[in-house]
Amino acid sequence: MASEVILLMGPPGAGKGTQAARLAEARNLKQLSTGDILRENVAGGTELGTRAKSFMDAGELVPDDLIIDMVRSELAGLDEVRVLFDGYPRNPAQAGQLDGLLAELDADLTAAVALEVDQDEIVRRLVQRAGEQGRSDDNEDTVRHRLQVYAEQTEPLLDYYAEAGTLRRVDGTGSVADVEARIRRELP
Ligand code: AP5
Ligand code: MG
Repeated sequence: MASEVILLMGPPGAGKGTQAARLAEARNLKQLSTGDILRENVAGGTELGTRAKSFMDAGELVPDDLIIDMVRSELAGLDEVRVLFDGYPRNPAQAGQLDGLLAELDADLTAAVALEVDQDEIVRRLVQRAGEQGRSDDNEDTVRHRLQVYAEQTEPLLDYYAEAGTLRRVDGTGSVADVEARIRRELP
């Protein structure tokens, strides 16, 4: 099977994790959700978790060196590079590191899918999830800060992928199935 690398991008609450699980299964990709892996490390009390927790609780990005180490160790030993990244990369430094990593692995980026959802809908979704799951960064102040960090640090990457010709903008509103169908239409 040929290599395939898809990025799922978008603001907090855009549906990256929801769609990542569905796409990874449908396309036989390894789902690599940096936020989920960090939360597992926090829950397990690992050294990575201990170092990441305060950044996550504040809605700040975890330092790039911790993230690239984590991504490298997740990719180590894969027979083929078939990966769906959810929530990575999140700033230009991480995007540059990813380019280097893919070059080392002789793999190309298939697509960078950006889910678009307006701010009111995001707040509505995350307030609801806060009641259901109790994620420590799903309170109103932290959600607002995560949105600001997204706008300042992550959103500029969309231009980067647009210039590379890999950006696919997708409307992230409507049912989960509708969003999934829209994403699939954008992928080769
Ligand atoms: P991360 O875990 O990536 O969180 P996030 O970007 O804030 O996004 P969420 O996980 O909250 O939302 P999502 O887009 O996955 O949406 P979901 O499918 O859950 O990052 C958390 C923190 O970890 C960061 O702040 C940072 O500290 C750190 N971090 C992670 N990666 C990093 C990196 N690369 N570098 C540095 N730091 C990093 O959906 C949201 C809700 O909406 C759910 O309840 C869902 O059921 C619902 N929903 C989904 N789709 C729909 C729909 N179509 N209609 C209605 N509701 C829907
Ligand atoms: Mg997520």
